[in-house]
Amino acid sequence: MIISNKKGFLVRYLITLVMLYTTLFSLESKVCQKCHPTIYNEYQNSIHSSSYYKDDKIHNAIWSRHPLHKKGKYSCAKCHTNEKQSASIDCMTCHKISSIQENTVSNKNIYTKDKKLLYSAQKGMEDKKLIYHEESSFFGLFKKSVGSPYHNIDYSNKAYYSGDICMGCHSHKQNSIGFTICKTDSNNSTKQNCISCHMPSISGSATTIRVTKTHKYHGFAGVHNKPKMLSKYIELNYIKRDNGFDITIKNLAPHDLLTQPLRVLKLKVTLNKKPLPLVTFVKVLGNSDGASVPWLATKEIKNSMLKANESKIISYKSMLKQGDELQVTLGYYIVNPKIAKKLGIKDNIFRELKSQYFQIK
Ligand code: HEC
Ligand code: HEC
Ligand code: HEC
Ligand code: HEC
Ligand code: HEC
Repeated sequence: MIISNKKGFLVRYLITLVMLYTTLFSLESKVCQKCHPTIYNEYQNSIHSSSYYKDDKIHNAIWSRHPLHKKGKYSCAKCHTNEKQSASIDCMTCHKISSIQENTVSNKNIYTKDKKLLYSAQKGMEDKKLIYHEESSFFGLFKKSVGSPYHNIDYSNKAYYSGDICMGCHSHKQNSIGFTICKTDSNNSTKQNCISCHMPSISGSATTIRVTKTHKYHGFAGVHNKPKMLSKYIELNYIKRDNGFDITIKNLAPHDLLTQPLRVLKLKVTLNKKPLPLVTFVKVLGNSDGASVPWLATKEIKNSMLKANESKIISYKSMLKQGDELQVTLGYYIVNPKIAKKLGIKDNIFRELKSQYFQIK
């Protein structure tokens, strides 16, 4: 009797502790919401806010089949979680990265130990630090506060301007055999970088206190969220030939158009509303036995994905006449339907990246 009471108490005590911990924990990003509501809402809709295996069913489906899963060693944490490795990526995960350590297997984020310090980028502030203070003017008659009462900001970290800040998690990943299963090439020194394409300036204030016309989009356009925001970086066109016609696709991104090996890209073309043969672009990993799961892969069995800045030409046999109507659609499945079936993932629909209509002249 006494024992079970004690047990009951212990269980209740533990539950309270866990609840307290999770409230305290979720409070951190919630705090940012108070003064950065627009950015917070965008972040909530981005895949970064559900990168943890408990929040992302696709990631979870792969993780639960991984050999380390049985051992309970969540080896994906360094990129799929926050600094404490206990929840999805949050505001602090990015804004506390002081530098990136480059490694062969995968890179590593080095976080600042300064509790009040955040890093960011702002034009005109490139070599400054903003420490919260009050300034008085007109012999002390007027007072105004400068900076954020909640945190200090260091604007001098170049990686927040070049996009290198993304490369701790996005650069590359090798499996335990030393084979690179995914990578995101970067030419971050040029004008276009991860930030300029995936976090464009859009209307709405960055903070409620210092009102700005625009802010950097925190929904991180990509395959899960707002793919069409990136459609201007894909060019679709047609060329008339004597024995048919060609469709050209140009990838203006400095990385494979889709980087994750689960994805599959499809080109759908209709001529006068009649569908022509479907074309598939995919990267298949495997070994000497054929296609395999990423952790057993030693090579690419097939790779027809559009590479960084690559143009592809697809030829069709149909003849084009003046007045004909071509509808060209480039789209994708987040998970290759063949794999989705095996993983039991439903709701895996075809999504459009870009669709263009041409009337033949
Ligand atoms: C009490 C209000 C308040 C809270 C809470 C708050 N901030 Fe801020 N934050 C501000 C203000 C005001 C600024 C603008 C400072 C300036 O430029 O004068 C700012 C600026 C920033 C910037 C830099 C903006 C730029 O110009 O590049 C970042 C990054 C940032 N905050 C992140 C966060 C994060 C992450 C959290 C949660 C941990 C947070 N803030 C919580 C008020 C707040
Ligand atoms: C010139 C614009 C451009 C630049 C620069 C760029 N990207 Fe992309 N990115 C795209 C386009 C276009 C896509 C494909 C469309 C989509 O996923 O919605 C894409 C897709 C992605 C995806 C989703 C891929 C997948 O399979 O899930 C990630 C992740 C990504 N980019 C990260 C990055 C990182 C990190 C950098 C910096 C090294 C970067 N991008 C630089 C345009 C760009
Ligand atoms: C995946 C990384 C990442 C996450 C997650 C992230 N940020 Fe940012 N944030 C950045 C980068 C990079 C910049 C600098 C962009 C620039 O100015 O070029 C930035 C800029 C900002 C700015 C300045 C925006 C502007 O237009 O001046 C604020 C404020 C901010 N972040 C707040 C937040 C808050 C609040 C959260 C959580 C809700 C958050 N960030 C989550 C990477 C991130
Ligand atoms: C702490 C690691 C980490 C950092 C830092 C980080 N990312 Fe990510 N990012 C991820 C992970 C993990 C995913 C995939 C999450 C998932 O699907 O579960 C992701 C997904 C994305 C996607 C795909 C979005 C979609 O809708 O499919 C884009 C685009 C992206 N990140 C861009 C960026 C950019 C730009 C930066 C730098 C400003 C950045 N990330 C910084 C880990 C990170
Ligand atoms: C080096 C950083 C890193 C590590 C470690 C990592 N990932 Fe990822 N993962 C990413 C990034 C970045 C993305 C976003 C897509 C892309 O860039 O290909 C991603 C995306 C994914 C996706 C696609 C999710 C979706 O919603 O579409 C799956 C599945 C995934 N990772 C599985 C895993 C598993 C399982 C592990 C651990 C065994 C792992 N990852 C470890 C960086 C990493």
